[in-house]
Amino acid sequence: MEQTYIMIKPDAVQRGLIGEIVARIEKRGLKISAMKMGFMEEDKAKEHYKEHVERPFFGALMEYVTSGPCVSMVVEGKDAISIMRKMNGATNPVDALPGTIRGDFAIETGRNVVHASDSPEAAKREIAIHFSESEIVDYAKIDEVCLY
Ligand code: PPS
Repeated sequence: MEQTYIMIKPDAVQRGLIGEIVARIEKRGLKISAMKMGFMEEDKAKEHYKEHVERPFFGALMEYVTSGPCVSMVVEGKDAISIMRKMNGATNPVDALPGTIRGDFAIETGRNVVHASDSPEAAKREIAIHFSESEIVDYAKIDEVCLY
């Protein structure tokens, strides 16, 4: 089982898309093992996106992700990292296919609604930035139990 870090970004919270996004994750069959809402602190935002610090959009990105509350999740399941990246769609919504979250709800990169870790290393790093171990709930869903 893989874990990935998912953020419902401030624009999506403002637009009332939390339920829509959470529903898609649940209906796909992935498990939410941690979830919380709040303003992302500036130091956490900087740490999260540190590989992009030299990019021209870094300032705008910091402003965006700290502009309002976001929802942070740990999402778990077989191939969860790759599945969530595909469900989110391309980073630039112009390239995101209809049926993906960005393809259905976004039109520009600077307001692209969701974030998902892009590798196992990134998932581990990002989960550790946003969650303590005690916030991640270890439980089995009934469909997981049926797999045995
Ligand atoms: S990727 O997925 O790393 O290849 O994408 P990349 O284009 O390198 O972008 C890295 C993250 O920066 C976000 N981004 C922006 N945010 C605000 N404004 C602008 N102009 C902008 N351009 C890129 C992009 O959405 C990526 O963040 P996440 O959270 O992974 O989507």
